[in-house]
Amino acid sequence: MVKKNACVFISGNGSNLKAIIKNSRDPNFPIKVSLVISNSKKAFGIKYAKIFSIPYKVINGEMIRFEHKALRLLNENKIELVCLAGFMRILSKKFLRKFNGKIINIHPSLLPKYKGLNTFKKAIENKDIFTGCTIHYVNEKLDAGKIIFKKRVEIKSKIEEFVKRSVQLQEYNAYSIAIRKIYNKS
Ligand code: GAR
Repeated sequence: MVKKNACVFISGNGSNLKAIIKNSRDPNFPIKVSLVISNSKKAFGIKYAKIFSIPYKVINGEMIRFEHKALRLLNENKIELVCLAGFMRILSKKFLRKFNGKIINIHPSLLPKYKGLNTFKKAIENKDIFTGCTIHYVNEKLDAGKIIFKKRVEIKSKIEEFVKRSVQLQEYNAYSIAIRKIYNKS
């Protein structure tokens, strides 16, 4: 099987990046992480690109600069899928159009509930029984693109950090299920 080249965009911890890289080592997994791009040189996740010997690039500064450089790298590396994994910037319409339908994101809520930030706080305050994560295509509206896969997680605590951790543990598998689904490998 010829794997598609994928690029992961990160801003922080990179624990989802690590999980995608590990799962992509399965010969039947449809993608290969061939590039990692971070918008911050302080992102801890860069460590995983180094550990797994994956080429990475830090592009900091204005978003316009980021997108210009990122687009060039995506083309040069023949990237067919961009996975946003804790990438905390909003991509412009222009960028999305140039990479149309090939950008996906993981969001820590059961979309369409709780778009944007502070998703766990909102779920706890609203006394929700379940929260979870959603992997979706990225379109021009925030956290509103077509849903690929959702994983539901029971809220067992009122402590935000605890709920966050319980969802994150499920994200690692959920992201890879979504990637397999895209290429009908589920
Ligand atoms: C993940 O929990 C992801 O759902 C969230 O950021 C975290 C990144 O963790 N994404 C968003 O909030 C996007 N709006 P990681 O850097 O350890 O993968």
